[in-house]
This record gives sequence, C-alpha cells and structure tokens, in this order.
Amino acid sequence: MNKLFFDKVIGDPLNRVDGRMKVTGAAKYSAEYQLPNLVHAVVVPSTITKGRIKSVDSKAALRSPGVLAVISHENAIKVPGNADNEHPTEPPTGGQPLRAFYNNKVYFNGQPIAIVIADTLERAQYAAGLVKFEYDQDKHVTDFELNKGKGVLPEKAKKDPKSSLADYDRGVVDAYKTAAVTVEAEYIHPTEVHNPMELQAITAYWETDDKLTVYDKVQGTKPTQQAFAKEWNLPVQNVKVISEFVGGAFGNGLHNWPHETAAIIAAKMVKRPVKLMLRREHMFYMVGYRPYTWQQIGMGASADGKITGISHIAIGQTSTYEEFTESTVQQTKMMYASPNVSTRYRILPLDVSTPIWMRGPGEATGAFALECAMDELAFALNMDPIQFRLANYTDEDPEKKLPWSTKYLKECLEVGAEKIGWSKRSMKPGGLRAGEWLVGYGMGVGTFGAHRGAAAVRGRLLANGTIIFQSAVTDIGPGTGTAMVQIASEHIGIAPDKITFQLGNSDFPQAPNQGGSATVATVGSAVVATCNAIKEKLLTMAPTAEKRFANAKMEEILFDNGQMSLLKSPSIKVSYTNILKKNSLTEIDIIQDAKPDDESNKYSKYSFSVHFVQVHVHPTTGQVKVNKVVTCADAGKIVNKKTAGNQLIGGVTGGIGMALMEDAIIDHRFGRYITKDFADYHVPVHADVPQIEVYFVDKPDYIVDPMGTKGLGEIAIIGVAPAVANAVFNATGKRIRQLPITPDKLI
Ligand code: MOS
Repeated sequence: MNKLFFDKVIGDPLNRVDGRMKVTGAAKYSAEYQLPNLVHAVVVPSTITKGRIKSVDSKAALRSPGVLAVISHENAIKVPGNADNEHPTEPPTGGQPLRAFYNNKVYFNGQPIAIVIADTLERAQYAAGLVKFEYDQDKHVTDFELNKGKGVLPEKAKKDPKSSLADYDRGVVDAYKTAAVTVEAEYIHPTEVHNPMELQAITAYWETDDKLTVYDKVQGTKPTQQAFAKEWNLPVQNVKVISEFVGGAFGNGLHNWPHETAAIIAAKMVKRPVKLMLRREHMFYMVGYRPYTWQQIGMGASADGKITGISHIAIGQTSTYEEFTESTVQQTKMMYASPNVSTRYRILPLDVSTPIWMRGPGEATGAFALECAMDELAFALNMDPIQFRLANYTDEDPEKKLPWSTKYLKECLEVGAEKIGWSKRSMKPGGLRAGEWLVGYGMGVGTFGAHRGAAAVRGRLLANGTIIFQSAVTDIGPGTGTAMVQIASEHIGIAPDKITFQLGNSDFPQAPNQGGSATVATVGSAVVATCNAIKEKLLTMAPTAEKRFANAKMEEILFDNGQMSLLKSPSIKVSYTNILKKNSLTEIDIIQDAKPDDESNKYSKYSFSVHFVQVHVHPTTGQVKVNKVVTCADAGKIVNKKTAGNQLIGGVTGGIGMALMEDAIIDHRFGRYITKDFADYHVPVHADVPQIEVYFVDKPDYIVDPMGTKGLGEIAIIGVAPAVANAVFNATGKRIRQLPITPDKLI
C-alpha cells in the first residue's frame, strides 16, 4: 500500500464531490426527469383495512379534464411474473411483496388500489379524489398490544434451526433468575417511519414493448433491475434502473413497493412515460417502517458485577402477506461476556403493510432494551454503568467463539466519558440541577456487523490523465461517491479532482443494495481491485515509455501524482499519460470484481459505538432537552472525517427522534394511521438537536477489507435511544420503558 498518499488523502475531510450539484439543484432526483410526453400519476389508497373491493367506479374520474386512465385490479394488464406464482389467488404466508392490482383483496389501510393518470399533476390529483370504491369489509386486527401473545417463529427459523432468527441458548436457560442481583423489564418500541426528505418517486418509461427504463428512488439499481426483470419476464439487460441521486432513504429503498409496479403498469397501458411521486402521507404506510416491537429482558449479575445470565425476548410486527424479520436480539448474543444467554425472536402478523429495515435495523430496537437493562442492573448493583460494561467486556465473540477482527470499544468508552464530562455525573438520580432543570447523564453502546459483499467496478484511465470509475451502487446520502474518489485516489495515485465516480445506474458493474453499512467495504474493495489491475497494466506497458522499468516489480514502484517512479531512484519516473501515448492507447479500461476471502471468516467482524448524552429535564413540565451528545465510533479506518462525522450526527439525530418524539399511531377502530404528517409525527428539528460531538478511534481493520474500514451508518443510531432514556433516569429517577419519552410519561 502506498503509505505516502494514504496519509495525504484517506481520512481527509474532502468536501462532497457532488455537494455543489446538490445545493445548486443540478442533481437530478427520480421525479425530476422531464421525458417527452411525460404524464403524471397519483395513487389511490384503500380506505378500509381488510376485505375485498366489490366495484370501482371511475366514470367521474375518466370524464375529468386531462385524465388518460384510471387503473385498478379491474382493468390492469397482467404482470407476467405474477402468473408464474404457485399461489395464483393468494399470496403465500411468510411470503412475498404485495402485487399491485393483482386481485380485489385489501390487506392494509392505505394499500394502493388504483392509479390515476393525467396530463398534469393537478388534474391527476383532482381525478384521484373522484374514484369511488365499494368494499366488502372484513374485521381487521391491527392492535399489537392486544395480540402480542400470537407472535410466531419466522418461517426462515423454522426451516433452518441455524438461522440467526432461531431460538438461541448459551449455557443455562434463564440462569439470570438465580443471580444475586436481577432485573426483569419490558420495553416497548413504537412503529417509526423513515420519512427521508425526498419522497418515494418513480418515472417509468417503456422504450419498446419489452424495454423498460425507470428513474426510481431505490437503494440498489441492480437488485431493482433483477426484481423488475423477473416481474415483467424480461431479459435483465432490457431493464434499466437509474437512481443517480437519492435524498435519504434510511432503508425504505431496500424493497420494491406496489406503487413502483403501479407506475410501470400505467406507463405500459397509456404508452407514455409516467411520473409518480408519493405524498408525504403515503410515506407512512406504503414504503415500510420500523416495526412496533415488544421486548422483555431478564438479566442477573453476581454482587461484584459479573453478568451471569441474560434472557431476551422480542416480538416484532409484520404484515399478513409477507414475513419481515430483523436482528433485534443479535447484539444480546455477543455484546457481553455472560456464560448464559437465551434469545427468542417472534413476529406478529397484523393487517398492516410490511415493515422494512430502518437505520440500525433490529439492533437499534434491541439496543433500547439491552442497554437500558444494563443501566438498570448497574443501578441495582450500585455500579457506574461504564465500570459495569468494562467488568463484562469480552475479548472474543462469545456467540461465535471467534476473535474479533478489531474491537476498540474500550477506547470509545474512554474518549466518550472524558468528552461528556462523565465524572460530573451523580450516581444518585436527581442529584444534579441546573437552575430549575434536573440534569442527567446516560450512555448506550451500539454494535452492528461489519459486513462486506461482492461488487465490481469499472475504471477507465484516459489519455489526459483523468480517470472515470463506474459502479451500479447508489448513494443515499452518506457520500459514497466522495469516499470512492478518495479510496481511488490513494490506490491509483491520481489527485481527487481528476477522478470521477459515476454511480446509480444499472448499466454499470454489479453492486448490492446500499444497506447494512456495507457500501464502503464492498464497493471500496472493488475500487482497490480495479486500481490494482490498472497498475499491473501500467507496469507491463511502462517499459515502452521508460526502459528502466523493464524489470521493475510492483512493490518497487510508487504510484503517485499521475506517475510511477522507482521507490529506490525517484528520478526514474514516467507519467500515466506518457505510458498510454507511447503504447498508442487512448485509455485503459478494466472491470474488476472483489469479494471477501474465507480467511476473514476466522474472525468476528463488528463495528462499535458509544453514545453519551446529557439531558435537562424540567420537573414540572416533563420536558426533556438533550443538552449535549458525545458519540465515539470504532468503524475502522475513516475514509473521510467530514462525511463520516455527518453520518454520526445524522444517526444521533435519528436516535433523539426515536427516544423522544417519533411514534406512528394507528387508530385501531379503523386500522388507520392518525399520524401521517410532520405536525402529528414529530421528527427532531434544529431546536431539538444539541451540540453533537463525534470522535473516531480511526484504527484500520484489514480483516474486513483492504482499506481497513468497517461500516458506520447503523452504529450512528444504535444505542442512542437507550443513552437518552438512561440519562432521563439519571436526571429524574423515572425509568421510562416505552418510547418515545414524552412529557406525559415524566409528570
Ligand atoms: Mo439501511 S436500514 O441498511 O438502509
């Protein structure tokens, strides 16, 4: 590895390469492509929660000015991929995404049951209000609390007892019950909605009867291409997915939703490009959410603070037509050195839409229970929560019995404690005041698998010394393009401003969804592989331009600043442009793939974070103000301290929302969300977000990938909500186990 350039570029707080395009409006999002003959679509949601549509009356809508079509299950063309289904009349349990306009069944309130196409958006909106439905209504079940006894083991766990979703026992079941000091508590996490700034949108266009292009807000162009190719029974190359800019997603672009298929059906039927953007209200039930989850933790420790047993049960909500699962109990298995651990994970199907992974999926919910229980047990032991965690620190993964690839959690604890001023914390709740406000300190630990997948990247080194990379990967906001430019810069030895990284197009080489905090490790590794392949090529061609490279070996050469030189005699050098010229080439064009090797499986790979929070709580009004947050992350080598810092600040902000505000509420009489705008569903705004300080251990993990990075996106939020809840307890002595911690719960 090129150490000189490493220090210079990787880790630099480089500005985002697409920042200017974003702030000037030059960046095009999925609803901003003005195709010729474009028409506008509006989806119509069901107003019942469960039943069948008896009839659709679209006469008035069709008479309305500018309307081209009203499409529902009554007149929609058949989607060929659906016809192959083994269960043509019924989605199988445990099963499959809702198929748009497939039949007359209604599975949840707000299900898209028709789409109206018109020449302008306003005319489509107006006509959408004129479509009338008659229903046969069935009794629905949406109340989680009333039905939580009906949670079931996921199909995946039934089929595969080794699945991470299966029941897990280490040592003795419920050993905590016989411990010297025990806690047992229930924790409730409400439904939360991703609500990124950009609304879900798709512009669908059939170039010919068997060639589809979509500009679609998704987290993966290749997975979406595969999904639509299968759905429409087309060769993969006949489907093109473009998602060049994504205005936040947090996970709701990890699944293809009925509105997308509805727009594609519409485009086929009206034979024009169709643009569909959901309304904010639709974001609450059409594109997934973090599921309502009930948890119970029992934890016991010896009098000197060694955990002897943890039992963790979690039940998460899913829909009746599709099985959604997440890793809610995962960190309980590996975070602390308890000899006895049992976890049980169940899902509860209700007449609601399917949830989808939301930032820190599973772990963020699980950490709320685990890290609060840790705080409760530390309090019962009269131990400092940091000391309690150190007493149960584990130097190997107690679940997999493998060494960690890297783990710098102790360093995170140390830095975080110092920066928040932990020494000022009172062990006794309510022991500190600032004027009339109660002051409390709390902390929570987060972890998430340091995942890496397979990807390929194309690199084209041009005769003018610039280089263009291409990957199908999307960038939902973390600054993927910027990070890739930095990684490329280090590994090919070309300045960042001469590097272009093109992404968000299914025509480009393979990349998985941007999800699970795996993008830098996955795509970055392919960038490195491509750079290495280009360097090999340069080395074989170099002697044509400079004879003295004739016998040079790769490790004897410095690739830097657009030229190669001999490490031992730096005056012997040749520029990349000269090599191309002397070899009569206009470019070097290489696609290289990269995937993790088996060696890395000898280790347990996780990222870690610690969040420290100081809150002020008003004893009379119950208002909680988060006064300061310090977050410290072990996410391997940090490629860009600015964008990585942004990631942490964003995650902490989401965690404050989870702790104090966000709560999607269904009126169970109707099965309908009553929170469906930002007036009723609160997300943190500037006034709610304090000074957030972020720190990185910044030590590389070369087991995970050649850059030494580990994922960061998820650990930014995992552990924040319990840190806030623990700080509220420290301030008030009130233990709130049901999120969000609203003032009514504190007075
Ligand atoms: Mo994230 S929930 O993997 O988008």
